[in-house]
Amino acid sequence: MTATRMKIAASDGATSAPFRHFLELDQVPAKDLRAIVAEARRRKSARAGLPKGAPDPDEGLAGRVLAMVFEKPSTRTRVSFEMGMRQLGGSALVLNSGDLQLGRGETPADTARVLSGYVDGVMLRTFSPETLQEMADHASIPVVNGLTDRSHPCQIMADLVTIEERFGRIEGLKIAWTGDGNNVAATFVQAAAAFGYEMVVATPEELAPKPDIVEAAQRAGGRVSVTTDVNAAVADADVVVTDTWLSMNDPDEVRQARHRLLGPYQVDEALMAQAKSTAIFMHCLPAHRGEEATAAVMDGPQSVIFEEAENRLHAQKAILLWCFGQL
Ligand code: CP
Ligand code: NVA
Repeated sequence: MTATRMKIAASDGATSAPFRHFLELDQVPAKDLRAIVAEARRRKSARAGLPKGAPDPDEGLAGRVLAMVFEKPSTRTRVSFEMGMRQLGGSALVLNSGDLQLGRGETPADTARVLSGYVDGVMLRTFSPETLQEMADHASIPVVNGLTDRSHPCQIMADLVTIEERFGRIEGLKIAWTGDGNNVAATFVQAAAAFGYEMVVATPEELAPKPDIVEAAQRAGGRVSVTTDVNAAVADADVVVTDTWLSMNDPDEVRQARHRLLGPYQVDEALMAQAKSTAIFMHCLPAHRGEEATAAVMDGPQSVIFEEAENRLHAQKAILLWCFGQL
């Protein structure tokens, strides 16, 4: 996979600035991932108290335009990228695939080449990781993964910002995932080696994360394990995290089976009590209260779900600066 191109020829023959795609966390050097977390935290505190639409003093992406292509719905990703670009002095376009020729069969490759002539970067939320890779392979501008069926790297960067804010560190913590071993779980697995946390994923066997992702993380030195035993996973955990039982790529027909399988993996107050007393509860949102987590946990004192949502904004600004070679 091509994650980074440091020099490219612009269409007028001039050499444009270096840029990088942000596709999968296990393709980005660990030191860069840690620099992104640090930059997100620095920028967040530097602009505390400013109105949301006020630019950061350096306006690091002045004049840049990000096209956001959505093949699935979004609240957080859409609004946080748009506000992030505004705070960095640039702007963003929302392009729903149903309104694009992409939705009628124009290829991701051709779409990427066309968009590269109009805008400075693309954020894509799509189904297949192959679509994302095709865009990246044919774009001459940075491409950011805004979620695929396989991964959600922008989310996990925001989650790691949130964890570091709460604990002052990430390394050495125990993160327990409970529920569907979906794209968000997989991305926590992918980042384990780079950040040095222990990652325990508790899922029914049928819903375990993809073995290739788990094995790659283990080969990279990540302390990653997968179990069906939710109580063992949560024991002594610093972070308890879950997500919806039905992702946007899942057909509605599996709903009943998912509820049957995942009922024992619900996060309720009794399960939270098995984690450390200092543990936090995380969820990328949107949530279904009373399914993957009870309202008492989501709105309880250990929940950091809205800080986590806000940190999408700060994390993505740092990701964008990295993509444009400014970090
Ligand atoms: N967490 C997340 O990606 O939310 P949206 O689907 O609202 O963008
Ligand atoms: N796993 C969820 C995450 C939504 C942000 C999904 O893919 O629908």
